[in-house]
Amino acid sequence: MIIRQFQSQDAQAVSDLIRTTIRISNQKDYPEEHIKALAAEQSPEHVLERAGWTHFYVAEEEGRIIGCGAIGPYWGREDESSLFMIFVHPEKQGEGIGRALVKTLERDEYALRARRIEIPASVTGLPFYQKMGYSFKNGVDAPDEERLYRLEKYRIPEDRQKMLDLILARRSYRGRYKADRVPREHLKAILEAGLAAPSGCNKQTTSLIAVDDPALLANIKAAIDPPVAQTAPAMICVLTQRIFAYRDRCFAVQDYAAAIENMLLAIEALGYQSCWYEGHITDADRIGDKIAHILHVPEDYELVCILPVGIAEEEARAPKKKLFAERAWLNGFPEG
Ligand SMILES: Cc1cc2nc3c(=O)[nH]c(=O)nc-3n(C[C@H](O)[C@H](O)[C@H](O)COP(=O)(O)O)c2cc1C
Repeated sequence: MIIRQFQSQDAQAVSDLIRTTIRISNQKDYPEEHIKALAAEQSPEHVLERAGWTHFYVAEEEGRIIGCGAIGPYWGREDESSLFMIFVHPEKQGEGIGRALVKTLERDEYALRARRIEIPASVTGLPFYQKMGYSFKNGVDAPDEERLYRLEKYRIPEDRQKMLDLILARRSYRGRYKADRVPREHLKAILEAGLAAPSGCNKQTTSLIAVDDPALLANIKAAIDPPVAQTAPAMICVLTQRIFAYRDRCFAVQDYAAAIENMLLAIEALGYQSCWYEGHITDADRIGDKIAHILHVPEDYELVCILPVGIAEEEARAPKKKLFAERAWLNGFPEG
């Protein structure tokens, strides 16, 4: 069995398949009049009309069309799609063809761009679609006036998933960096990401200095003892002003933490590696103060973190993390 794209010369065979399937498979769930009306509607012209604005697929075995299915925009929407016309010949049901068709539709570009996929399911098809992960739209578990159940599945569109994958892929990198310089455009993009972070009462207590001058970098690296980030071709220094957001509340730490994470993700997105060096440079030996001095940072700013930026020469090591279920829950802390 193969699944391929519908061609206009398939219209008659697809119409015959759908009509046969409705008459045999759906007749136990619907009154005869309804079955007749449904079958009458499924003409070759109707199939062609659907194929005109959907991506229509057929399952074929030894030259015979034994299944079909389509996906298209849900009422013209770009971020919602709908599955249509999914039928498997009664003699071929239970062989995984329906599942293969739905999987094909879910890999189609109309599915990949959608955050929600709807399916108008017949009473007959309901258990199958539920097994495929579809549930009642808005919790309504009764058929509508067309005697179809409205089912839906939420998914993460491909471009959004890439952003989430990037967040999950970020690692602290402590290895050697390649000598390649980091272009100024990239450094600026990283700084912009940092400054775009939220800040308590919008006090914007975080400021940033990017360093790519080799002599300056050498001075800074010489101040870091024990040495880290010695091969990085660029570095971002994070400054904070510990001012009150309101009354005696100071959110400076939260502000620069948000800025740092934004920058770490931008660094990852641009193909570089980094590590949040804060503990090391704010310890009793006050390396941060020495770097601030090198960079002429005024007294009312504190240098709290350095982020090396560069192309990794080695693999980043993934630290062991606790399981999801040990740290995240739905609707309350687990009992017991
Ligand atoms: C506030 C803070 C301070 C950190 N300081 C250091 C540091 O001084 N040296 C270092 O090697 N890593 C430092 N890290 C990085 C953590 O060790 C690292 O994020 C953690 O081990 C988890 O690894 P991951 O970033 O790959 O998920 C710091 C991270 C944070 C959030």
